[in-house]
Amino acid sequence: MFRTHNCGELRITDAGQEVTISGWIQTIRKFGGITFIDLRDRYGITQLLIDEKLSEDPAIGGLGREYVIQAKGTVQERSNKNPQIATGDIEIAANKVNILNSSLVPPFTIQDETDGGDDIRMKYRFLDLRRNAVKKNLLLRHEVSSATRRYLNGQHFVEVETPFLIKSTPEGARDFVVPSRMNQGEFYALPQSPQTFKQLLMVSGFDRYYQIVKCFRDEDLRADRQPEFTQIDCEMSFVEQEDILQMFEGLIKNIFKEVKNINIPGQVPRITWEDAMWNYGNDKPDTRFEIKLANLKVKGKCFLESIKENEFPVFQNAETILSIAIPDAASYTRKQTDELIDWVKRPQIGMGGLAFIKYNSDNTLKSSFDKFFNEAQLKTIAEKTNAQPGDLILILAGKEERTRKAISDLRLFMAGRLGLRNPEEFKLLWVTDFPLFEYDEENNRWVARHHPFTSPKPEDIETMIQNDPAIKDAEKYLEHPYADIKANAYDMVLNGNEIGGGSIRIYQRELQEKMFAALGINKEEAQQKFGFLLGAFEYGAPPHGGIAFGFDRLCAILGGSESIRDFIAFPKNNSGRDVMINAPSVIDEQQLKELNLTIKEK
Ligand code: AMO
Repeated sequence: MFRTHNCGELRITDAGQEVTISGWIQTIRKFGGITFIDLRDRYGITQLLIDEKLSEDPAIGGLGREYVIQAKGTVQERSNKNPQIATGDIEIAANKVNILNSSLVPPFTIQDETDGGDDIRMKYRFLDLRRNAVKKNLLLRHEVSSATRRYLNGQHFVEVETPFLIKSTPEGARDFVVPSRMNQGEFYALPQSPQTFKQLLMVSGFDRYYQIVKCFRDEDLRADRQPEFTQIDCEMSFVEQEDILQMFEGLIKNIFKEVKNINIPGQVPRITWEDAMWNYGNDKPDTRFEIKLANLKVKGKCFLESIKENEFPVFQNAETILSIAIPDAASYTRKQTDELIDWVKRPQIGMGGLAFIKYNSDNTLKSSFDKFFNEAQLKTIAEKTNAQPGDLILILAGKEERTRKAISDLRLFMAGRLGLRNPEEFKLLWVTDFPLFEYDEENNRWVARHHPFTSPKPEDIETMIQNDPAIKDAEKYLEHPYADIKANAYDMVLNGNEIGGGSIRIYQRELQEKMFAALGINKEEAQQKFGFLLGAFEYGAPPHGGIAFGFDRLCAILGGSESIRDFIAFPKNNSGRDVMINAPSVIDEQQLKELNLTIKEK
């Protein structure tokens, strides 16, 4: 028997017991003639005390960090207790030590605070995973998947696997493709999501489906994106949006309760997409703090007389002017406001500058554009921005889209500075009523905001069917009836991150064909790409809808981080590489030949 106990479970009440434990050597300390070893496994760390006689054994002298050993001995009370660890009251007085395996000196210390940089830890990920800091993330991930399965199983969902070697599913990213040996010149695409399969399962009558499933998207990576990531993918039949929102806020609340012991009372708040954009400049607002933006001028239309009448060229020339009030920041120094100006001028934000008003505690107002505005006019801006004495009002002016994005980023940046983004506080939000279409000005066509299987709101179906999607004057796309069509779609947002998204689907062939046509996919192409789904809709497709949660994202946020990489056992780096196994890599000539592929010189 390799062990009677693990390294995390012995307590003072076990004193006197003969035990055997196995694990990795975390540290070895010599103290006079005796040796102390901290032995570690998944469950914890236990101190071994090796007496003088055994310490003299050359095998003990040769032990090093990360050796795997087995120790037998008696549990005894420690003279020097360590309240930091659960086993800190005891040690094992070892009478026998077996070396199970040796180890090279690890390239970084296997401790919470390690001396290893990112690259080296990724290369030796199997060692990094021994560290508590990373290990606990994977254990949390396991808790989240267990809680998910318990809840969904309890609600009669059926877990069904869907294939990985498929053809393209349009989720808006590039596909990863796999060449077929048996069908030369042809390729599979890896699923960007199981979207079409879960809909087919509804046509098959499964009624409630889920899968914790890998999805593959060849897109630019960020902290919250990986080329292969995991979704909690779900679909239900005979449902409306309300049924889905209820069911899945239940899921998320249940996860919070089981994994974090946090009760989320009441209904998850809801906001329409339009209100989210209007109030936060963003369709995934962080609602842990209350700063909202004021729309002073939007697409050339002024909402304040003082702005309309003023000659300040920056405001005059701007398409859009937006402002936010930052609590208790009126006392910012010149240096501090200059820093903010530099911040908005960075290429990632891309603004020409930043205007501000200090709404001082003595009710006076002072702005960076005093030459053009008198105090009464400044006051109107302060009121519109809902500012209080003591606040610093920040104002951005420029092109609509960029300005909205910039003020939204600035809002998050300032909240971060003020410590308003507490990772231990969790704010959920549903965003609903997204536009069904977005206009792609570059290619002069409509694109689906969610995906092409998303149904319009019932009241907008007629508008969609009756109108020709073609646009003659691209500049005027906002005047086209399609611009106002709302989708029967919803996103769940947690602390400013989109953790899930879904929709009620189209389930009639005619409407689905109209949708494809609107997206510029002609009949033949639709038949060639999605004929299987259109065909299935003719065999009694039930009304259905669903959602998918970004499982890695959810775990990361529950674990207090925004980087999903730490919650994935073997993640890719920012260039999509697995540096541990060195993938992607070239394949040998023979394989290329079998696939009938040739690689062109770069
Ligand atoms: P969507 O594309 O919105 O919807 O994806 C659902 C959720 O998956 C997460 N996510 C990602 N996480 C990590 N890395 C990525 N590259 C990545 N891309 C997306 C996000 C997102 O909210 N089939 C539809 C769902 C449906 O309609 O039911 C879909 O995939 O958290």
